[in-house]
Amino acid sequence: MARVSEPLATAVLVSGTGTNLQALLDNVHGREAQIVAVASSVAGAAALERARVREVPSRVFARADYADRGARDEALGDWLKERGARLVVLAGYMELLGESFLARFPGSVVNVHPSLLPAFPGLRAIEQALAYGVKVFGVTVHFVDAGVDSGPVILQRAVELPDASAPEEVLAALRPLEHALLTQAVRLLARGAVRIDPENQRRTIVDRAAVRAGDG
Ligand code: GRF
Repeated sequence: MARVSEPLATAVLVSGTGTNLQALLDNVHGREAQIVAVASSVAGAAALERARVREVPSRVFARADYADRGARDEALGDWLKERGARLVVLAGYMELLGESFLARFPGSVVNVHPSLLPAFPGLRAIEQALAYGVKVFGVTVHFVDAGVDSGPVILQRAVELPDASAPEEVLAALRPLEHALLTQAVRLLARGAVRIDPENQRRTIVDRAAVRAGDG
């Protein structure tokens, strides 16, 4: 993504509570990024109210309202383009996006996932990790490709929880990490500080100086 001097026009896709959306609204909106659209796959999602409070336009794109996923993706992509979005952030978005949607926003769709990928992709990542018995949990922000949580990693952060046994306990530890990491990733993307390694398309190269500045 090219370096931009203006705030990066960003769309956020949600399905639920929207605490990650809130972190972006509180920490980057109107600064490095301008959140120009919030799209929900679920009518009545609490995230929609968070958008309303900040006067960010929002819309519901429920799968059941379209003939198929492709038609949903097209309508969603059209609206995000109309709103001028250049970055699309999946923040608790519980739907898959097809290749044609991703092709409209090349290298510009990111997701936050509550595990250290490639461990525990997909639904109920925290429960998967607990069932496996891991001692280190974590969060990943990654580029989105057509697979399930399989795109190149942008940022990861781990936390040792050797005695954890309940999902609520892990969630409580991971939530602040998610919010911090997603905020930092959007700042870095807005600064053009993330690129794909030409030698290894799986690997991202993050400008270290921008990471330090992105912590602020
Ligand atoms: C987060 O745990 C995120 O990692 C996962 O869904 C959850 C969304 O939470 N993909 P919220 O809606 O941002 O509060």
